[in-house]
Amino acid sequence: MDADAGLNHADGSPQHRDTELFSSEDDSSLYFTYSGGRNELQVNDLHYEVDTAAQIPWYERLSEFKLPWDIKGNKQTAINKLSLRVCSGQMLAIIGSSGCGKTSLLDIITCRDEGGAMTSGQVLINGKPNTPQLVKKSIAHVRQDDRLLPHLTVRETLAFVAKLRLPTSFTQAQRDQRVDDVIAELRLRQCAHTRVGNDYIRGVSGGERRRVSIAVQLLWNPGILILDEPTSGLDSFTAHNLVITLSRLARGNRLVLLSVHQPRSDIFQLFDLVVLLSSGSAVYCGAARDMVPYFTSLGHPCPRYCNPSDFYVDLISIDRRSPEREAECLQRSTVLAQRFLEKVRATDNHMWRPAGSNAAPTHTER
Ligand SMILES: Nc1ncnc2c1ncn2[C@@H]1O[C@H](COP(=O)(O)OP(=O)(O)OP(=O)(O)O)[C@@H](O)[C@H]1O
Ligand SMILES: [Mg+2]
Repeated sequence: MDADAGLNHADGSPQHRDTELFSSEDDSSLYFTYSGGRNELQVNDLHYEVDTAAQIPWYERLSEFKLPWDIKGNKQTAINKLSLRVCSGQMLAIIGSSGCGKTSLLDIITCRDEGGAMTSGQVLINGKPNTPQLVKKSIAHVRQDDRLLPHLTVRETLAFVAKLRLPTSFTQAQRDQRVDDVIAELRLRQCAHTRVGNDYIRGVSGGERRRVSIAVQLLWNPGILILDEPTSGLDSFTAHNLVITLSRLARGNRLVLLSVHQPRSDIFQLFDLVVLLSSGSAVYCGAARDMVPYFTSLGHPCPRYCNPSDFYVDLISIDRRSPEREAECLQRSTVLAQRFLEKVRATDNHMWRPAGSNAAPTHTER
């Protein structure tokens, strides 16, 4: 796949303009096929550092008897040499344990990173560097923390967003229809007239609030959907249904990127592509179905009847209970990350493929 592939329409007609990031949306139902052209998201050789000392105000550090400009930061690598490429029709899951850099990566892609600095690499959306304006127009981002108006009910929240974000060509009936669709899809009917609430104001439950945040972004439904841990706080049945919804959306010519800790096996099977992150480095990036063969080829076969995501996330997790264990886990994950980089060095899309296969999977191939 060449770098310009994302600029062409599925029918081969050239050039993707900013205006085409929006679909013409003739169909008001949630599962319309996105007709705004093919999107491609590329992360190239990204290196991102955070300053863990930056949160401490300079005046509190004066006790160190140093002038503010002499105080050295404490740099920690949050993302290390990460590359990936994903396009419309694919659902990519970033999998890894807590603190491995999932939120940092999604925040960098959506220009919402704070307190860190990109020391190298770039993020491209349809071949153009990501800017806050481009992100705002083209990406729906569900953040890990819910940011909603606590005094509105669930339906009011969605009706409000429908008014603001759906194209002006939508009639009121179509807007209401979309709100109903999203409420039904995310199983919010029973709490549609309950206020959303927050940490201080009692409202819907935590899992329901999470689904309202997702519903807000599903409503306006652009070509690229990014979700940070959409399944956290949900029971496994609801989580599975939610990922099925996302998978259906991806099938409708959308690009879906989500992060998840340790998905259960039936959720894992729904992903087209996965990136396994350990301490900010990719230890695997490729088709979900090729992950077990990949690690088996490195001498880490997945035991029978074991969920591959459980097994491999445990393998690459960093145990920080003691410095010795931490060093041992870091050593293992560094070796795995290096071996992965060696294996994909010659590829054009930074994805591992078993010998003999030639393309990354999309929903259409399933
Ligand atoms: N602005 C920041 N200042 C200090 N440290 C940061 C900052 N952003 C990220 N980090 C650190 O970078 C690492 C990755 O953080 P990130 O939030 O991306 O992890 P995560 O994979 O999303 O974890 P979780 O699954 O718990 O949400 C963590 O060790 C975190 O403490
Ligand atoms: Mg996170």
